[in-house]
Amino acid sequence: MRDKPIDPVLLNDWYVLAKATDLTTGTLLLCRLLGKDLVLWRSETGHLSAWEDRCPHRSVRLSLGNVVGETLVCSYHGMAYQAVTGRCVNVPAHPGYVPPKQACVQQYRVQERYGLIYVCLGEPDRDIPRFPEWEDPAYRCTVAGPYAMRANGLRAIENFLDVAHFPFIHTNILGVLENPVIEDYTVSIDDHGVYAKDICVWQPDPYGTGEGTQVSYDYWAMRPLTAYLRKNNPGGECLTLMYSVTPVEEDQCIAWMSIAMNYAPELSESEVIAFQDMITLQDLKNLESHSPQLLPLTSSIEFSVPSDRTSLAYRKWLKQLGLTYGVLEG
Ligand code: FES
Ligand code: FE
Repeated sequence: MRDKPIDPVLLNDWYVLAKATDLTTGTLLLCRLLGKDLVLWRSETGHLSAWEDRCPHRSVRLSLGNVVGETLVCSYHGMAYQAVTGRCVNVPAHPGYVPPKQACVQQYRVQERYGLIYVCLGEPDRDIPRFPEWEDPAYRCTVAGPYAMRANGLRAIENFLDVAHFPFIHTNILGVLENPVIEDYTVSIDDHGVYAKDICVWQPDPYGTGEGTQVSYDYWAMRPLTAYLRKNNPGGECLTLMYSVTPVEEDQCIAWMSIAMNYAPELSESEVIAFQDMITLQDLKNLESHSPQLLPLTSSIEFSVPSDRTSLAYRKWLKQLGLTYGVLEG
């Protein structure tokens, strides 16, 4: 368990904690983010709250309680906490008693967007990462996941940015053993992240036509734990993915994949999700086998080759951000 404070760049960012449809009116969800237990809940009028999962009276879990109207009622002594303010508004043992100021739960910022519930534990300096295709009617949009992994979240992002493993881990799906070559491509870093442009990979049937072809990927790591990919085809078919990784602990994460595609309307939502489930399962063994689990930011532990340039740029950017959580600093 980490005892150092969490880096502000992570603390002040937004993370996905649930699908919006999993948090129906009157429900409670227990979640863990950056080592902190949270309870997410929706009041009966739909107000969304993300609270520390601790009753300020005797420190039991609020997630053991119940939603009653606009309050969350603790299971232990029945005290009720109001959704908007977090203040205790009822103490059953003392009718009419006015609770003191500190009878208030710790509240966090929470927003619903793109069919997901996002939470920030700190003071957000930016909004939720934008996913423009989600708002474009030409695209059909689906959320896959959650994918819980006994793996470091930065390793999960790095795996998402890595195409050289396709022929070996996703054989005959995202690549073929006969053509593992990765040609040179360009990578750049700026204040908004890491961009890798036009990475070409041979795929046996990328558009469901039965034909193999070279496809081109653009990647953008826009936050330490959020990355975007765009797979273009000269015919105009386009697949975009937003890969959002929730850091549970330094060695545990939950990945979510938001998918927007402007082709293959005949594919059902469950088929789109089943495909991502299969790809994620294929990646999981390696992701859970990294030793060290933390991501090395120096070259002394792992060697690299030219096709690792996106990964190297990602590590360089994390170092520039001064990240200490989830990394080996050397
Ligand atoms: Fe929650 Fe007492 S511990 S009401
Ligand atoms: Fe993979």
